[in-house]
Amino acid sequence: MEGVKAMNRDIITQDAAMAFADHHLHIPDRFVRADEVPAAGEVVVVGGDDESSELPVVDMARLLDPEHREEEIAWLGSACRSWGFFQLINHGVDQAVIQKMKENTVQFFELPLEDKNTVAVRPGGIEGFGHHFRSSAGKLDWAENLIVQTQPFQQRNLDFWPSNPPTFRDSIDKYTMEMSNLTMRLLRFMASDLGVEEEPLLAAFRGKRQSTALHHYPPCRHPEKVIGIAPHSDGFGLTLLLQVDDTPGLQVSNGGRWHPVRPLPGAFIINIGESLEVLTNGLYRSVFHRVVVDAERDRVTVAVFQDACIDGVMKPLPELGEPRYHAIGKSEYFKGHTTEVVGQGERFIDTLKK
Ligand code: OGA
Ligand code: NI
Repeated sequence: MEGVKAMNRDIITQDAAMAFADHHLHIPDRFVRADEVPAAGEVVVVGGDDESSELPVVDMARLLDPEHREEEIAWLGSACRSWGFFQLINHGVDQAVIQKMKENTVQFFELPLEDKNTVAVRPGGIEGFGHHFRSSAGKLDWAENLIVQTQPFQQRNLDFWPSNPPTFRDSIDKYTMEMSNLTMRLLRFMASDLGVEEEPLLAAFRGKRQSTALHHYPPCRHPEKVIGIAPHSDGFGLTLLLQVDDTPGLQVSNGGRWHPVRPLPGAFIINIGESLEVLTNGLYRSVFHRVVVDAERDRVTVAVFQDACIDGVMKPLPELGEPRYHAIGKSEYFKGHTTEVVGQGERFIDTLKK
């Protein structure tokens, strides 16, 4: 198993595109992972009686209202500590910017394969249009994705930014700027919950890498045979997910079971990444999640990843006491996170725990 890449990207071939289009006829072996999907744990029924199995909903309007602020900050904090995930409503992000981003993302995925492949991923690369495979068997996810680095500005590589639809680059630019701002607003409330000073936490995120992933999960007549994204925990600091439609698919691991997320109209789904888990000295959790595919409907999402570190190093904020993780250089961490094979259900950062 040594040296096997845990995450890798591949160009989308005409064969793969045909499999997505004709999935009721035949599902090629490279996508079939029936062994992994049912084996990965019990799925909680959506809409069951057990309300505690629903993802917490955090209300930005309450965070901003002096009368409810304290209570809502505690609620945000408990979501980050127990689930590592929450839905955010009344977030105040410009609706026109969100709408344009949604439209352009859908338009991009509707283009013919050869048009999308003008920004195709290159061998060994991460950015561009393609799909990923994470399992050691090299099985492919049932999805097509476009990944671009959106910050720092100087590191943008426009070779991977589609010029079709024509407004797409502008939409990505405006949308990701909004996500940077939203991240900073949320961090202030997190600092308050953690009882740390705002500035060191904000500084850990400011000017750091931001990557944006656009996902399209085509429907599959046999959803139990494939997976949209295999179980993983996010490597960056904070992930902000926009659901372009109301197709469910995201599932979050908690208490050894998978909890399907019921998309709330207009909400963002936000989760703690591994860098923020380490920064908070383990108080906030980066948890496993996965995407299952729908039998009938397409699903499209936009994920923005905000990275964080202190002077190029991933380590806990000094204010939070005796560090529970060994410090690691950012590039060494990134290599470990993407290439190291650790035990089933284990994350690379678990190997850094003291
Ligand atoms: C991711 C991710 C979930 C989704 O991009 O890391 O978990 O619903 N995406 O697309
Ligand atoms: Ni993820």
